[in-house]
Amino acid sequence: MMRQAMLVGVLVGLCVVVQAYSEQGPMPREVPNPHAYPAPLGYVCYPATTPIVLDGKLDDAAWKDIPWSEEFRDIEGTRKPIPRHRTRMKMTWTKEGLYIGAMLDEPHVWGTLTDHDCVIFQDNDFEVFIDPDGDGHVYGELELNALNTTWDLLLTKPYKDGGLAVNGWEVVGLKTAVHVDGTINDARDTDRGWSVEIFWPWQGLRELSHARHLAFPPHDGDQWRINFSRVEWDITIEEGKYRKVPKRPEHNWVWSPQGVIDMHRPERWGVLQFSTQRVGQATLRADPSQPARDYLHRLYYTQQDFRKSAKSYTPSLERLGLPNVPGLSKPQLRTGLDSFEARVLLTLPDGRQQWWQIDQSAMFRRVEGR
Ligand SMILES: *[C@@H]1O[C@H](CO)[C@@H](O)[C@H](O)[C@H]1NC(C)=O
Ligand SMILES: *[C@@H]1O[C@H](CO)[C@@H](O)[C@H](O)[C@H]1NC(C)=O
Repeated sequence: MMRQAMLVGVLVGLCVVVQAYSEQGPMPREVPNPHAYPAPLGYVCYPATTPIVLDGKLDDAAWKDIPWSEEFRDIEGTRKPIPRHRTRMKMTWTKEGLYIGAMLDEPHVWGTLTDHDCVIFQDNDFEVFIDPDGDGHVYGELELNALNTTWDLLLTKPYKDGGLAVNGWEVVGLKTAVHVDGTINDARDTDRGWSVEIFWPWQGLRELSHARHLAFPPHDGDQWRINFSRVEWDITIEEGKYRKVPKRPEHNWVWSPQGVIDMHRPERWGVLQFSTQRVGQATLRADPSQPARDYLHRLYYTQQDFRKSAKSYTPSLERLGLPNVPGLSKPQLRTGLDSFEARVLLTLPDGRQQWWQIDQSAMFRRVEGR
């Protein structure tokens, strides 16, 4: 996603991807009042009690009691129609890794791309974004199409902050499988959809975390950040073949709406809360850092707007004009030549206090107080 920040060169038959940071096409379209963030969704991930065979079918006993997520919505939220086909995901874990299952209802299953690491969202696809330590930098992205062709890449930070997409990165031990309920690339009949099973080992997730306190497998109650997206193109049927409608943008259907057409806003992703208990026994908690996360990202976006016109960040809190938020101190702000750091003291409901910091590259993390 955020196709516009990538310069994509597909060489004949090869599928070579080159990332560059020249602006290609329009900037992400902001929705009115980008500061009115929808609260992220959350999902409690329970352990699997029996083995899972990776065949894409989701019919293993282990999946049976694992709850489905909400149905995916348009990336722009309620301003857009409800997606015309249903998408849901579920997750479970073992001591080896995280399992993700997804069911994509689809009357016309098709796929064209067969080369690993090519630009999969040119087909209909299913996408996972994951940031275990939730700092908004160094996160993984995985896309796959109905032919079970995958593209895994590591983002050093969001594209908007000058992030690089490391295409050569391979998820250690990744396994995927797709099951098509119907016929792929055959327009003469109507299909029911396709389903996906992904096994992402802890080893391949550990390298996405700077935070030394993170455990793999996670501890009971640990919270990571994750989001899912489904890209769906409009098609026509000509002579029994599927064809993409030319020059029409794709639909982006997502688990937890971002409020902007850009998946690369990790601060808007959903909360993945691990549980060691039996299915249904845990309570989903709100991310306790969310007020600081939201506030500091508002500050960050306001600083970026300021810099666009003034060519520098402002050291003046007054000029940023942010409201007071209960439970948060006034921010401490430091600016450099072309940088800033802002931190706030968050008072948790139980009275504990934490300093949280953001910088000009949207790196959000907990720090020691000054
Ligand atoms: C999907 O692709 C993986 C990796 O290439 C392969 O190991 C697996 O057998 C494939 N399976 C299915 C069912 O799609
Ligand atoms: C998940 O991603 C979608 C697509 O960008 C977005 O609309 C949604 O807000 C995201 N959810 C969260 C919680 O980030």
